[in-house]
Amino acid sequence: MFGRVQRFRSDLSRPQRWYAALCGNLSPSAETFRVQLDRCLTGLSPSKVLDAGCGKGTFSFYLAQRFPSAQVVGVDLCPDLHALGSNIDVCREMQERSGILNTRFEKLDLHELDAAGEYDLVVSIHVLEHIPDNEDVIRRLARALAPGGHLHIQMPRNGEHASGHHLCEELAAWSHDEHVGREYEPEELSAVLESFGLETVVCKTDGGWLQGWAWRIGESLRFRRRLVRLAIVLPFLKLMIWIGGRSIDDGTGNTVVLARKPRSLSRGEPEADGSGVAASASGFDRSARVSQPR
Ligand SMILES: C[S@@+](CC[C@H](N)C(=O)[O-])C[C@H]1O[C@@H](n2cnc3c(N)ncnc32)[C@H](O)[C@@H]1O
Repeated sequence: MFGRVQRFRSDLSRPQRWYAALCGNLSPSAETFRVQLDRCLTGLSPSKVLDAGCGKGTFSFYLAQRFPSAQVVGVDLCPDLHALGSNIDVCREMQERSGILNTRFEKLDLHELDAAGEYDLVVSIHVLEHIPDNEDVIRRLARALAPGGHLHIQMPRNGEHASGHHLCEELAAWSHDEHVGREYEPEELSAVLESFGLETVVCKTDGGWLQGWAWRIGESLRFRRRLVRLAIVLPFLKLMIWIGGRSIDDGTGNTVVLARKPRSLSRGEPEADGSGVAASASGFDRSARVSQPR
């Protein structure tokens, strides 16, 4: 079950670890992100994966279990959003205690990522909105792909997180202080990726208002440390996410993009060196919003 590995997190209380062992991930938002990630991963079998901005390793461990023969590298700047301990230290301890050994964790500022052609899958889940000048980081992520490799990005759409913040002042203040990077509409993000030589495979929003409200309610309770209430409503939030993720895409929600580096660049196509100008290398039809991973 997704997120049960959190039972090995030393920074959580014992009841939280029990909850994770029984019910999986403690964060309803992570469940939303996993549904979107899963859809994009259909048909892929990467051997080297980068989780760029891995936080407490939620998706690094998930990817390591989903692709047991792959090597998963999680990198993060380290500070912890909820002041519960250094991200990378917690990840390394979880790795040891869980025995999920096809993972490696490093402290790294993504502005310093220098990994040309190393990875056949790069994921970045709700990270770019935390990074000023994130176009430089997007270029580095694109450059880190091996030919034929895929880049999966999830992040808030323009202004999406600002809505519904009246629920919780702490969440509003956090979002104001932390979301310092540019937020993109799906089409804007895919245009940036294409300017770095990638082809768009999926370009969409995630599961609509139902998932959006599940996120707001869950995060508000988390920020107010109403953890008992969160535990009680979590199954309902997960149900909202499950329904929203499968049946509703009303154009609201977060940006979700999957892009691929072509196996070989034909003459004239832009390289991921920051010099490119948006040009549709893929022939992707944005009016369709979603195409399937090949
Ligand atoms: C909202 S958390 C998401 C964590 C993880 N991707 C997840 O979904 O559980 C954002 C993460 O981005 C990391 N981060 C922010 N700026 C960064 C940078 N310049 N380089 C690397 N990581 C960064 C933060 O430390 C934090 O762990």
